[in-house]
Amino acid sequence: MKIGVFDSGIGGLNVLKELLDKYPNNTYYYFGDNINIPYGTKTKYELTILSSKIIDFLILKEVDLIIIACGTISSNIYFDLKQKYNIPIYDIISPTIEYLNNSNYQKIGVLATEMTVKSQIFNQINKEIYQIPCPKLVPLIEDNLDYTDVLAEYLKQLPKVDTIVLGCTHYPVFEKYLNKLNYKTINMGKVLCEKLNLKNNKELKIRLYFSKVDHNLITNIDKIIKYDYQLEELCLNYQK
Ligand code: DGL
Repeated sequence: MKIGVFDSGIGGLNVLKELLDKYPNNTYYYFGDNINIPYGTKTKYELTILSSKIIDFLILKEVDLIIIACGTISSNIYFDLKQKYNIPIYDIISPTIEYLNNSNYQKIGVLATEMTVKSQIFNQINKEIYQIPCPKLVPLIEDNLDYTDVLAEYLKQLPKVDTIVLGCTHYPVFEKYLNKLNYKTINMGKVLCEKLNLKNNKELKIRLYFSKVDHNLITNIDKIIKYDYQLEELCLNYQK
């Protein structure tokens, strides 16, 4: 199968990594729009323009399905995109909501972008929910800088919870760190992969497209996915 995956930057690579582990031997086209990052503070109108350009590009690559590996797009405009396009599109958040509604967790913390929290999508979880918008984290992760102090400040805003949802796809980069601090975490990419039922074909191919390629990006890619890939810089002309 040809599978399209996209995000505002490297965050969706955490989802791609889960896909590669569970469904290797497919062709993956990944687009990271890091020139326009962050998406988490953009308007719905801007998010629609940006994601439509990416989806149009992935359709030109003849993908069979598209995975929105971005919590912000999934929470704000998933249904608009699904209506607009005639190709299977999966969002990253609804499998996690379904999973949590069927779980024994009672008190749940959610770390996410401002626009994801604003969308109120996680209010669909029928448990006690504490949502913290964390606008400072994505730029630190993209620039490969230390996020621990900033993360600690956000964690202080949470009461004691049973688990924390990594509600932005950039956040699995600190999942192990949180687990070492004894926090249980939910990785939305993992939950999605459990739910998807994809076939494995004969051969693995990974094409990564980013709107800006630099040294930080290459370091970040190598930290997240340990597979061979082809990398290309490709900016999809976005004007405000
Ligand atoms: N990784 C994305 C998300 O899951 C976007 C983060 C951003 O660009 O602000 O929300």
